[in-house]
Amino acid sequence: MNRTLVIVGASYAGVQLAASTRELGFDGRIVLLGDEPDAPYQRPPLSKGFLTGGFANERLPLRSQAFFDEGKIEWMPSTRVVRIDREHREIELHDGSRIAYHHLALTTGARVRKLDCPGATLAAVHYLRDLRDARRLAQTTHTARRAVVIGGGYIGLEVAASLRQQGLQVTVVETEPRLLARVASPWLSGFMLRAHTEHGVAFEFGRKVVALHDMDWSVSVELDDGMRLVCDLVVVGIGVVPNTELAADSGLKVAGGVIVDACARTSDPSIVAAGDCASFVPHWAPAGARACRIESVQNANDMARTAAATIVGRPQPYRALPWFWSDQYDLKLQMAGVNAGFTDYAICGSVEERRFSLFYFRDDELIAVDSVNRPQDHMFARKLLANGARVSPQAVRDPAFDLKTVASRDAPAPRGVAQ
Ligand code: NAI
Repeated sequence: MNRTLVIVGASYAGVQLAASTRELGFDGRIVLLGDEPDAPYQRPPLSKGFLTGGFANERLPLRSQAFFDEGKIEWMPSTRVVRIDREHREIELHDGSRIAYHHLALTTGARVRKLDCPGATLAAVHYLRDLRDARRLAQTTHTARRAVVIGGGYIGLEVAASLRQQGLQVTVVETEPRLLARVASPWLSGFMLRAHTEHGVAFEFGRKVVALHDMDWSVSVELDDGMRLVCDLVVVGIGVVPNTELAADSGLKVAGGVIVDACARTSDPSIVAAGDCASFVPHWAPAGARACRIESVQNANDMARTAAATIVGRPQPYRALPWFWSDQYDLKLQMAGVNAGFTDYAICGSVEERRFSLFYFRDDELIAVDSVNRPQDHMFARKLLANGARVSPQAVRDPAFDLKTVASRDAPAPRGVAQ
């Protein structure tokens, strides 16, 4: 009997899931549903080259049309799933039609967290998550002169860099006392702050926006200490909220994300979930840790591969090493592993020349490496972290330290972490 896999959400996780199930031999029908009109596209350029004009539109699609044709993947754009009928194993679309499934995959991603203060819906206020947002924002950057960016996370910093490169005055408002507080070490936060300050970005830390006031041709951003920042453009990047409503309404277990096990199975064995919407206990988390979501392209792709293996009946626990990158000005920041709870760190390379790597240790164990303009280090660090090879902070600090040799030498028995 021909079986049907329905995938809800057509971005990184959804597209990878379709590709991987086919690669693993699934020969049933694959229906990929997305509520956006555009063919699945790359998101990272939206806050960088797409804004500065350095990224050609033709490079946006995630996959070619041949991928969908040859893989017999039925991509349905502008299609919204409104309900999952688990009893009959059907999904209901916005137009009332239904599609029956044997396997259902939720790759619904996340949406921007909205600013919640008076004036938050003014026309000068922008968010950046999808292509429509990016097109709308790109139109305004030619005429705007002063921008306030709310949120000093990845969106905020990448947008700040892109706007500075176009000559706008930029002020970033961040509630925390430092940049990238959710993911970066204080040292790296400090480094990124210096880099942005040298490029002329101004910062207001520990501040909240209490209101936005329309001043005809400009906007006044009022902070909680009474300060007012006048600008023509406001970009908000204050995090994302997972799209879990479909799952929750159908009775699946949801707690800060769609709860899945190590093989990407939800609380219903015929439904998997992957990517930004899925919450799980990562293999690298300490014993007793709570489920969490990991927001990254790497996680979307690798978790989709795990989900695909489950669908074809060859489940394998998700063990991929987390990694991440961000481009700001001439800085290529690449992160491998998770530095939470680090007790020591060591730097190799030159901070002055902005080419270095930062090694994080928890007790004696290397747990993460951040690299700035050292892409080779990043690749070797991923290898090193994946195979569990030993390295000490003292070794990293030695001027003769050679990461390539250390990453290539015989490692102890692998910890089962895939690269
Ligand atoms: P984020 O969670 O990385 O950062 C949000 C920042 O906003 C935090 O620093 C937070 O303290 C701050 N914040 C929260 N509420 C605030 C408020 N009311 N006023 C001022 N600051 C406030 O989320 P972000 O930057 O919005 O990015 C969204 C998602 O997109 C994330 O998953 C991120 O990882 C992803 N992304 C990835 C990129 C990459 O791969 N290079 C680039 C850009 C975004």
